[in-house]
Amino acid sequence: MKDARSRKKLKSKHTTDSGSGSDQVPSSSQKDDKSREALSLDLSTYFWVAGILGVLAVVFIKPSLVVDVVEFWVGHSEHYDVERPIAATRPPETRVHRLRADLEKRDAIVGAFKHAWHAYERDAMGSDEYHPISHGASNLTEAGSIGYMVVDVLDSLQIMGLDEEYQRARTWVENVSFDVDGEYSTFETTIRVLGGLLSAYHLSGNDELYLQKASDLADRLSVTFDSPTGLPYPYVNLHAGTGHHAKDYPGLVSAAEVGTLQLEFKYLSHVTGDPKYWRSVEKVMTVLKNALLEHNLASVFMNHLEGRYIHSPISLGSRADSYYEYLLKQYIQTNKTEEIYGTMYRGAMDSVQQFLIQVRENKDGQSMTYTSEMMPEEDPSGQISWRLTPKQDHLVCFLGGSLMLGAVKSAAFNPDRVSMPPEESELNDYGWKDWKTGKELIKTCLKTHD
Ligand SMILES: *[C@@H]1O[C@H](CO)[C@@H](O)[C@H](O)[C@H]1NC(C)=O
Ligand SMILES: *[C@@H]1O[C@H](CO)[C@@H](O)[C@H](O)[C@H]1NC(C)=O
Ligand SMILES: *[C@@H]1O[C@H](CO)[C@@H](O)[C@H](O)[C@H]1NC(C)=O
Repeated sequence: MKDARSRKKLKSKHTTDSGSGSDQVPSSSQKDDKSREALSLDLSTYFWVAGILGVLAVVFIKPSLVVDVVEFWVGHSEHYDVERPIAATRPPETRVHRLRADLEKRDAIVGAFKHAWHAYERDAMGSDEYHPISHGASNLTEAGSIGYMVVDVLDSLQIMGLDEEYQRARTWVENVSFDVDGEYSTFETTIRVLGGLLSAYHLSGNDELYLQKASDLADRLSVTFDSPTGLPYPYVNLHAGTGHHAKDYPGLVSAAEVGTLQLEFKYLSHVTGDPKYWRSVEKVMTVLKNALLEHNLASVFMNHLEGRYIHSPISLGSRADSYYEYLLKQYIQTNKTEEIYGTMYRGAMDSVQQFLIQVRENKDGQSMTYTSEMMPEEDPSGQISWRLTPKQDHLVCFLGGSLMLGAVKSAAFNPDRVSMPPEESELNDYGWKDWKTGKELIKTCLKTHD
């Protein structure tokens, strides 16, 4: 950042926290509070009788209210209610906020999921891709399907409790073979298929089918790490066991492609007890750490055979996004014992806050937070400076949630006891700033759908 042009001015830009979820008490809550007061009145016999009848009526009309009152006395809940803090009734240091499932929204989501999934099962079961308008199907290569859809969806089926659909999908997975003579993206196959199998393994209570399939697939993917730097080749032939460069960017890999394999391979080592998967992806992290640019950010392309970044944009979107996400999640995955990932994540997010986060008013005068990219520019002496470009691609919308996750998981004074949503006093300064920025970014992303 030698060039003054490129330096982002740190104006008093920071976002006013206009999110109101934690501050405003919805009227239904006021009603509940009144009911609670009513229940705790000093009661004469008359009121006992009336009270019991009243409670019975309430149980009949609105059972959830009784559950609320009981939980309120018990002091905790398995349901959490983001809209309705009960904090005012407790001393601040023992606040517990509750998030309650929004049942209507939940059921709408399950309904939409079933609509899509049943159409896929009817028209394309097993194929890698579905074309919902033509009701057609296709596979990524002519060699057949690797379960791109079915495997990726196993966790959703389990989480949503769709048992019949899940059993049909599991039966399909019994027959899937990864001995396919075609070229697959190392990154996509890892996050969708290997990740899908491992999530299914975990959620099913260790169904061995998934672990066998996952180990077979990981062994086939592992050939890609056989390169001079240990950075994986971006494409792999799962049958031939050979790694390849992409045709449209030979000799290059992107930060996200090589930095978004670690959770899956490390988890596989954890459950198999075989450290080889861990070692491969950890070696990649060493290369990535040594290659970091001066501001702890990654540009989108690396020279594969030398393991260093080439002059290419710094972006939080396509080709870089999940590199940052996985820094945080590797830190969380190991219960924060790998300090290096906490440090790399914090370093990157500090620069994101300093250079890339921008605030501007939209047409309606609302201030919107967004992220920029930085383009490298070389002056005649060979000096590189970075020019800010106000472009945020859709993939950057992961960042809001990631910042908020990082705030709660890595920046809380007492990580075991953080209110939901967190209080300012529970997070360190970085955490609170990330939390607020995350909220604002999500607001902006939602606006893009208006
Ligand atoms: C995809 O591959 C599977 C075999 O793996 C095959 O059953 C299916 O018909 C293929 N789909 C298409 C659209 O070719
Ligand atoms: C799995 O393969 C067996 C043997 O080829 C076949 O009989 C069975 O129908 C297949 N099951 C599915 C769900 O494709
Ligand atoms: C995670 O680390 C904390 C603090 O060192 C420790 O108390 C806790 O038991 C650890 N949890 C697991 C699952 O290892």
